[in-house]
Amino acid sequence: MAKAKTSFVCQSCGSVYTRWQGKCDDCGGWNTIEQEAAAVSGAPKGLSAKKGSNVRLVDLNAPEKEVPRTLCGMPEFDRALGGGLVPGSAILVGGDPGIGKSTILLQAMGNLAKAGKHCIYFSGEEATAQVQMRASRLGLSDAPLKLGAENSLRNILTTLDEGPPPDVVVIDSIQTIFADHIDSAPGTVSQVRVCAHELIGYAKRRGTVMLIVGHVTKDGQIAGPRVLEHMVDTVLYFEGDRGHQFRILRAVKNRFGDTGEIGVFEMTGEGLAEVANPSELFLSDRDTLEPGSAVFAGVEGSRPVLVEIQALVAQTTAANPRRAVVGWDSGRLAMVLAVLDARAGLGLSGCDVYLNVAGGLKISEPAADLAVAAALISSVAQRPVANECILFGEISLSGDIRSVSQTEARLKEAQKLGFSSAIMPKGKTQGKSGMRETTVDRVSDLVALFIEPD
Ligand code: TYD
Ligand code: MG
Repeated sequence: MAKAKTSFVCQSCGSVYTRWQGKCDDCGGWNTIEQEAAAVSGAPKGLSAKKGSNVRLVDLNAPEKEVPRTLCGMPEFDRALGGGLVPGSAILVGGDPGIGKSTILLQAMGNLAKAGKHCIYFSGEEATAQVQMRASRLGLSDAPLKLGAENSLRNILTTLDEGPPPDVVVIDSIQTIFADHIDSAPGTVSQVRVCAHELIGYAKRRGTVMLIVGHVTKDGQIAGPRVLEHMVDTVLYFEGDRGHQFRILRAVKNRFGDTGEIGVFEMTGEGLAEVANPSELFLSDRDTLEPGSAVFAGVEGSRPVLVEIQALVAQTTAANPRRAVVGWDSGRLAMVLAVLDARAGLGLSGCDVYLNVAGGLKISEPAADLAVAAALISSVAQRPVANECILFGEISLSGDIRSVSQTEARLKEAQKLGFSSAIMPKGKTQGKSGMRETTVDRVSDLVALFIEPD
């Protein structure tokens, strides 16, 4: 009997090798390469049976051809999707285990089913009775939603092919589904790829929305959703801190909307509740007038969000001072510290520095530099930032404060929440907001606001 062909596949990026090796050359991951049955190759013999079709772009331009989006009754979810579900699209929902992926999808499906949509929820992890228990906890026990406890791709596709195609299908999760013509275990790259390919193919053919759940694990044993990201139309990441009840659904790829858009939720006893005004939430338990705290006027997607940034600078005798960051990039903190050192003479290199973004939000905007610097300086100087003041602006390596986008939206949001002054870079829209605007050109100007020269 011929020996079965095998290949070695990196479980985190999908690169294929002929021999095992400890490190993946492509993604640099260690111990991520596993032996798998080689993918069934074989180009179709002869010419393909059916001629490919094409249509004229202008014929598709008619307004009546515009695809209507389906709203799932959760405005924050619809917002993260860029305005609802697009028929025939494939959406990947990734996130750490236990963050709430199954919960949010079950809630969305329940709402859609109640609104008369034909929805099927396939769970490969839970029995239908368990899903039902969760649904009744979420107040959805009367929703006309179809449930299936299935692991086999073949069974799922057969179910979907019976009767008219459903409007929305959830696959929870792709790592538990297997195609029986592939020899590898469920969750390996080749299984995930083949199953996703088939499911996405079905969605495109039949106009069904395919919501696929993907786990992210740290150890690379299970194929992360990375390989899937290229295949789907939209990638949503559900993130949040286990210690906080806030959850953020972030669009990192979207063929039908803006990326960076976020939906904010709060995990409660009855599932995920939507948070329509996140700024109020992130600022709700702010300690007033403590040194080391500054409010950053940020923009997440298309929405301005105010968050509190807390810093603590403490003297240390350790040879390597500690730098601990939660919710922001540690490299970026190192840069701001270096600039404060080099351009404003603030000797922070011998101090422990702790930085925390309150509420569990992760900020990636460089516009937060100025608020971070203000929190640090305020902690060093032991002088609080004024209670009614917000900050935003990017710090360059030369110590200049650069202007950032969406100044007006930031100021408007701050004003709405009762802030009356802003420390910000110079910009075109200056003086129009009705707020007291203090412009800073260089980091030394910011330092001078807190520390009087001696
Ligand atoms: P789950 O949706 O199962 O996470 P995932 O599918 O991403 O693995 O969420 C599980 C967590 O959510 C679990 O820790 C319990 C919590 N939870 C609530 O706090 N309230 C609820 O109403 C539900 C359904 C879950
Ligand atoms: Mg789950």
